[in-house]
Amino acid sequence: MSLAPIRRLRPASSLEGSIRVPSDKSIAHRALICAALASGRSEITLRGPGADLMSTIAALQSLGASIKVQQGGDLTIVSVEGLGDESSLGALSAGVGDCGNSGTSMRLLAGAVASGSGVATLVGDASLSRRPMERVADPLRAMGAEIELNEGHAPLIVRGRRPLQATEHTLSVASAQVLGAISFAALAAEGTTAVHVPGRVRDHTERMLSALGADIQRTANQTGTTITIRGPGGLQRFEMLVPGDFSSASAWIVAGALHADANIRLTDVGLNPTRTALLDVLRRMGADIELLPGRADAGEPDGDIVVRGGQRLHAISLGADDVAPLIDELPLLAVAMAAAEGISEVRGARELRIKESDRIAAIGAALSTAGVEFDELDDGWRIRADRPRDAHVVTHGDHRIAMAMAVAAWIGVATSVELDDPQCVAVSYPSFWSDARSIGAFG
Ligand code: S3P
Repeated sequence: MSLAPIRRLRPASSLEGSIRVPSDKSIAHRALICAALASGRSEITLRGPGADLMSTIAALQSLGASIKVQQGGDLTIVSVEGLGDESSLGALSAGVGDCGNSGTSMRLLAGAVASGSGVATLVGDASLSRRPMERVADPLRAMGAEIELNEGHAPLIVRGRRPLQATEHTLSVASAQVLGAISFAALAAEGTTAVHVPGRVRDHTERMLSALGADIQRTANQTGTTITIRGPGGLQRFEMLVPGDFSSASAWIVAGALHADANIRLTDVGLNPTRTALLDVLRRMGADIELLPGRADAGEPDGDIVVRGGQRLHAISLGADDVAPLIDELPLLAVAMAAAEGISEVRGARELRIKESDRIAAIGAALSTAGVEFDELDDGWRIRADRPRDAHVVTHGDHRIAMAMAVAAWIGVATSVELDDPQCVAVSYPSFWSDARSIGAFG
């Protein structure tokens, strides 16, 4: 689609129709890595994969995995020859894996190469090279891998070791990426590895490893989550159609819930309960959202989401316990808060400052130019609607800032929005603009 119609976005008169969003990034990264470490040939079917998933595929290929990518209609079929055998996990080999913009690729792969057979180097783009990597390097070092960083950042140079040592870890941040990395390493360790996570994080790694035959358990209580993994263990081959990405669907959920005249159906979306906290928050604000459960594959449930507009939503305050399960949805939630009645607040979300951009600063600057009253706090914000204006948005190349501010335009939080880099959405959602057109966002 040409850039001209999407540079300046304006309020939409109505939003109506049905959208099938791209496959879930979190699940697909894990599926690709598991398939490379498993025994036999696995087949992973993806809808509209973005640049981040292509980074994981290319990095795995550079590290010795044999992967074929074919197009079948609007589906992408990825065949992966596993490097493992019946009883033991495959070993990735020496090479340079380019993770592009994708923090999930880099951190999960660090865990997979920790038991690899050579020296693996993981590199990324400028944004990824600014993000902290000690959080993943430290626990993997404790398990016996040798890891060099550049002052806490990529490139990561990893000398794998096998077997690794089963170790008990207490994470200081609630990170599913770090948990995933340790879990992959634990499959090549002798004994039981335990990980204590302070809070609730997405459980895709546990669901997938358990479906593929690993001995892994999760227990959660008020103070956090504990995962135990018994190694060493191999993984079985599998076939999977990866459901739609809830985080991508969230753009349409917020747009539909806040627009005066909207009726949007999102089909085949992943409905893993550790990902759908946004629905609860929007419902508490007064949104009209219906769920129609579907099926489950590799332990991951999916279904349709129907969202209807026309409701006036009210303000909400969220704290540290609320934010971890909706961390990727917070820029969109800021937009919802800017359209709601009253003063809303988010606290305990300092992690947002070290995503693809500093998302507290980026969404704050973007909404402020749109005329919203935005008080930037160290770990969140306080927000209130004011007089909408024409907004010029610096996305910092961050897909979630671009999508959130497009929604801000369509629901009238701004009188218009101009994005400096509309194409950055392709990191996670290449068909975002054509899906927007299909529901009348440019009408
Ligand atoms: C992800 C975990 C989250 C999330 C990211 C995907 C994952 O990151 O923000 O987009 O797939 O494990 P953290 O682990 O840094 O919280």
